[in-house]
Amino acid sequence: MIILAIESSCDETSAAIMRDGVLLSHLVATQTIHEQYGGVVPELASRAHEQNIVPVVQETLKKANLQFSDLQAVAFTQGPGLLGALLVGASYAKSLAWALNVPLIAVNHLKAHVLAHFIEKPSPSFPFLCLTVSGGHTQILLVQSPINMQILGQTQDDAVGEAFDKAAKLLGLPYPGGRWIDHYAQTGNALAYSFPTSQLKDLDFSFSGMKTSFLYFLQKHLTTQPDFITQNLNDICASYQQALINVLLTKLKLAVAQTGIKEVALAGGVSANSALRKQLQALGEHEGWQTYIPKFEYCTDNAAMIAMTAHFMAQENVLADLEVQALPRLPF
Ligand code: KG4
Ligand code: ZN
Repeated sequence: MIILAIESSCDETSAAIMRDGVLLSHLVATQTIHEQYGGVVPELASRAHEQNIVPVVQETLKKANLQFSDLQAVAFTQGPGLLGALLVGASYAKSLAWALNVPLIAVNHLKAHVLAHFIEKPSPSFPFLCLTVSGGHTQILLVQSPINMQILGQTQDDAVGEAFDKAAKLLGLPYPGGRWIDHYAQTGNALAYSFPTSQLKDLDFSFSGMKTSFLYFLQKHLTTQPDFITQNLNDICASYQQALINVLLTKLKLAVAQTGIKEVALAGGVSANSALRKQLQALGEHEGWQTYIPKFEYCTDNAAMIAMTAHFMAQENVLADLEVQALPRLPF
């Protein structure tokens, strides 16, 4: 089956074409307009999706050497995400499925981040644990099959990506700041400063307190040293990043201990973080886990992962009708 997939949940307009689980073409248009506002502006995201979606799909078809009439199903991100942004992808996908008279597949964005591991080999074997870390979510999942996943723990407030991005904003770094913290941390000393980490019970997370303590830390130093940030940027980034990673890896160890499952995957935008990738791999080698870290291009939002998920859903005949709605808080 040839599936066209659309992703428009936040600030990337992306399309992908997959034939029987094999990716034929894939394109991501990243919206740069938000940089000047220090965060995603929902209204501008919707407008940019509306402008991008037609050329992005056309180019994706061209790259795969296909016509609209070759498509046998259309998939889209149903949620979670920004409502106006989701509506652009949903309306486009529904119209196209209706016009071509082909099945429509409504995909959960968070499940798609997990299933990005099946776009290229090696893929994890079921059951496996997945730590999904993005700008909107932080969760540990027990993945029993492509369509059967269970949340073992999740953040009770901010996502870890937000903890990166908000700290970066306080440091005066561009949005989205996660990759800039990663960049400056590479030549910094992670032991230079210590930050309190939240200790919620079991497998749940909390990052809002860490974000606030980072603000107080900066305020305290800036009162006596106005150029504290510029003089110590690398050490500040490395230390704060390490505190966040420590929380993630501690919970992951607990999840392995509780379930006995040693197949461990990482997913979501924050999995692009170079220190997290290295430390998870080292931890896996030390603990005897099999770890799976996605390629950079499949870490952040992309339609290839939506196509992959749609492929599994089509195999199980999980199809949507034209009344299906985009939902900003789509239940897992
Ligand atoms: O999955 P994603 O593309 O979008 C959401 O679904 O949220 O994740 C975006 C998040 C942002 O918070 C961004 O700062 C973070 O991923 N991110 C990183 C890195 N690259 C992207 N965080 C830390 N280090 C990175 N290298
Ligand atoms: Zn995402």
